[in-house]
Amino acid sequence: MIAGKHILLIVSGGIAAYKALELIRLIQKAGGTVQAILTESATRFVTPLSVSTLCGRPALVELFDLTRETEIGHIELSRSADLIVVAPATAHLLARMAGGLADDLASTCLLATDTPVLVAPAMNVRMWQHPATRRNLEILAADGVTMVGPDEGEMACGEYGPGRLAQPQAILTAIEAHFARMEAPRPLAGRHVIVTSGPTREPIDPVRYISNQSSGRQGAAIAEALAELGARVSFVTGPAEVTDPRGCDIVPVETALEMEKAVNGALPADAAIFCAAVADWRVASPAGNKIKKDGSGTPPVLEFIQNPDILASIARLEPARRPALVVGFAAETENLVANAEAKRRAKGCDWLLANDVSPGTGVMGGSDTAIVFFDAHGSEDWGQASKRVVARRLAGRVAGALAAPGSAQGV
Ligand code: C5P
Repeated sequence: MIAGKHILLIVSGGIAAYKALELIRLIQKAGGTVQAILTESATRFVTPLSVSTLCGRPALVELFDLTRETEIGHIELSRSADLIVVAPATAHLLARMAGGLADDLASTCLLATDTPVLVAPAMNVRMWQHPATRRNLEILAADGVTMVGPDEGEMACGEYGPGRLAQPQAILTAIEAHFARMEAPRPLAGRHVIVTSGPTREPIDPVRYISNQSSGRQGAAIAEALAELGARVSFVTGPAEVTDPRGCDIVPVETALEMEKAVNGALPADAAIFCAAVADWRVASPAGNKIKKDGSGTPPVLEFIQNPDILASIARLEPARRPALVVGFAAETENLVANAEAKRRAKGCDWLLANDVSPGTGVMGGSDTAIVFFDAHGSEDWGQASKRVVARRLAGRVAGALAAPGSAQGV
């Protein structure tokens, strides 16, 4: 429902900027209010006067427009909105957002807020396809920014392809979908879930370590999906590549032993999901100083000892301390089904999500995966999907299991 909602609309410069006028009208018709900010270049395509007239309040361009800085600073401006919509979002503004720049009112507001942001990109097709724009969009997606469009079609410049601003009606639908999500039931409210994620780092000496290729992408997506359903999430993460999930308590760790301690410290929990790629072994006694080449050409011999299996130890806790639902992951490169089923039983977890991480699948570190789900009753092939989709599906299932006590277990 948009009725009663306040939207901060940021209009950046582009031939499609005039469509912002139609968008303002649609938002208002749906019962929302709009405060507009125009970038300097947007004012060449649409006048602040027409935007102000439609919004019924002055459109702002410069930081200096906030003459009453004490009454309505840019921080207040961006935080008082229920949603920030950037339409059209040029390649340049997206780059500034991804880089965290704050060199005008629009970018300053975007940096100074934790209000959700929806962007509607519009640019030339080559700019849209450029690796720099791809990179920036990936960063923004990881930051939790959502996107509508762009559409494909003939561009103002005569070229054809993706890059056209989504139709105002489609942007309105995306705004409605955002508020529908926000107002959706939160079935995990009052529940505490622990999620482990990322690789661990096992020191060899003060400057070297053993680790693995885990990006932490799947774990972060799961934590965020659980938080969206209202759970309090303790996110215990090794040094990951991706941004921390929004709305979670972040507990950064390095080694498997630290991860074990953090997980135990986060108990009690209603559910625990072990997504981390924990190093199976650690160096028995890491050197206190950097190991030096001794001139003989003989490499050092490292002695390993096994790390504790955090998942198995939590799954085997006495019922009073054990989370009602314990979920493991398995990354396999061969005999996936047989190995995963055996692993679920051996570890004592209720559910196990297995994926094939053979070289060439791109699963390790990638944004897509292919999951086979195992519980006490058998297996279910979830097929190929993005890690975000898998995360939402898993979070929904966790909510279902916790709502029906006793249904999750049965190892
Ligand atoms: O035995 P394997 O490493 O294949 O098991 C994977 C599952 O066990 C994952 O859920 C992982 O997070 C968890 N695990 C753990 N502690 C370890 C090793 C694995 O929690 N030491």
